[in-house]
Amino acid sequence: MTTTYRIAPSILSADFARLGEEVKSVIDAGADWIHFDVMDNHYVPNLTFGPMICQALKPHAKTASGVAVPIDVHLMISPVDALAASFAEAGADLISFHPDASGHVHRSIQAIKSKGVKAGLVFNPAEPLDVLEWTLDEIDLILIMSVNPGFGGQSFIDSALRKIEHARKLIDASGRDIRLEVDGGIKVDNIRRVADAGADTFVAGSAIFGKPDYKGVVDQMRLALG
Ligand code: DX5
Ligand code: ZN
Repeated sequence: MTTTYRIAPSILSADFARLGEEVKSVIDAGADWIHFDVMDNHYVPNLTFGPMICQALKPHAKTASGVAVPIDVHLMISPVDALAASFAEAGADLISFHPDASGHVHRSIQAIKSKGVKAGLVFNPAEPLDVLEWTLDEIDLILIMSVNPGFGGQSFIDSALRKIEHARKLIDASGRDIRLEVDGGIKVDNIRRVADAGADTFVAGSAIFGKPDYKGVVDQMRLALG
């Protein structure tokens, strides 16, 4: 079976003064998803953007021929449920949260899915995958952090590879259609290793937005994925 790889540029590293154009440019460059990092200066020591920005960007999240490009919302916030609902209303297509940021993980998943949005769980570098034993049947996405959340431009933490392998085994054993996404320090020169560990969806912020030619980077990533 061939894997469909997805590249999800993180607009955390985009030019915030021109976000709409940046979303368009990165979609023209071949982005499959738009990764939207929400930080609250509480769960993580940084502050980004909320549902109003998501809603404003939604009309820009489509290809030149008008095909919608999913907005992949990564919540680094606590509490989770109220803002997750606002993001669902603002046009998010997938919403992921950190289980350690929610008092009632199962309820938060249900709250997201009840809005007709796909739900994901995110695991920090030192966080075990244990909660998946009780939630794998409910979710659409697992997001493995390969940096500590809060900032773009950090280096990939190698122990994430073992965690990706573990998550891949759990997904395959479940037989369910669950994306395995990795976030942090993904570059052209390590994306193949991350794919070999079992990931199928790759967040990349600084690697793409840090270069003038977004398409050049996305093409090189695809070439590395084969
Ligand atoms: C970190 C964010 C990432 C970040 C990745 O908290 O979740 O999505 O933008 O940035 P890079 O690709 O630069 O590591
Ligand atoms: Zn992220």
